[in-house]
Amino acid sequence: MLWRARVSLWGCEARNRDQRPWPAGCGWIMDRMPTGKRDFDKEAAVWDENPARIKLAHDIGSAISDHVPLDTAMNVLDFGCGTGLLTLRLAPLVGSVTGVDSSRGMLEVLEAKIAAQNAANVRALLIDLDAGDTLTGNYDVITSSMTFHHMEKIASVLNQFHRCLVPGGYLCIADLDLEDGGFHGDREGVFHFGFDRALLHMALVEAGFDRIMFTTAAEVVKSNSHGETRKFPVFLMTAQRGERPEPAGP
Ligand SMILES: C[S@@+](CC[C@H](N)C(=O)[O-])C[C@H]1O[C@@H](n2cnc3c(N)ncnc32)[C@H](O)[C@@H]1O
Repeated sequence: MLWRARVSLWGCEARNRDQRPWPAGCGWIMDRMPTGKRDFDKEAAVWDENPARIKLAHDIGSAISDHVPLDTAMNVLDFGCGTGLLTLRLAPLVGSVTGVDSSRGMLEVLEAKIAAQNAANVRALLIDLDAGDTLTGNYDVITSSMTFHHMEKIASVLNQFHRCLVPGGYLCIADLDLEDGGFHGDREGVFHFGFDRALLHMALVEAGFDRIMFTTAAEVVKSNSHGETRKFPVFLMTAQRGERPEPAGP
């Protein structure tokens, strides 16, 4: 296995090979380097054929509605919405949901579902933050399910979320707890082997979020070709947009 070093732009994600965090501010990460952006267009047509993904979106939706007081006046942005498994789970509970994704193929599947279900309060938006696009709008809630480990520059994404939330608005991120890389058979486009909750907490504070809470929302069970099963816990982090910390003085 080829191990290489790469520079991380988010100090908080730094890990050594044993998955222990490097000292704060150290920007080196020893990971198996992803070779580029994953082509989700290729996976879009069969994405929903995996029952584990349907269950995961259902469990994450339940955890969000348990922890955030959703109501039908709220406008929600679902970042990295994919085929809209979480987007459409939340739609009946809120005023509107905008599903944002960088994969045209994923969004085409979502658009077909919007039409089939006559889900008039849901729209699909093509935005690629890696390509320099920016999020716009004012949302009461931003959700993101299983997308953060595909985002290289976490701090920049959190800053965009902060800017697009109304004061007191809710951020809900569901993703893998720290793992050893075994979750993905193909690690193309995987920038994080899950997240350390304490370090993600620090990044959220830095971006101006408060009332940060973590809960375990779900568990993904995977079997390998030898019949061995592994369990991967998935956290739900909820936070609210607070004031951004003042920059340090001279
Ligand atoms: C693992 S899928 C999760 C999809 C969906 N949330 C779910 O739980 O089924 C990650 C999604 O993030 C999207 N994505 C990856 N990088 C992105 C970026 N830079 N901007 C917007 N979406 C991105 C991918 O296209 C993909 O649909």
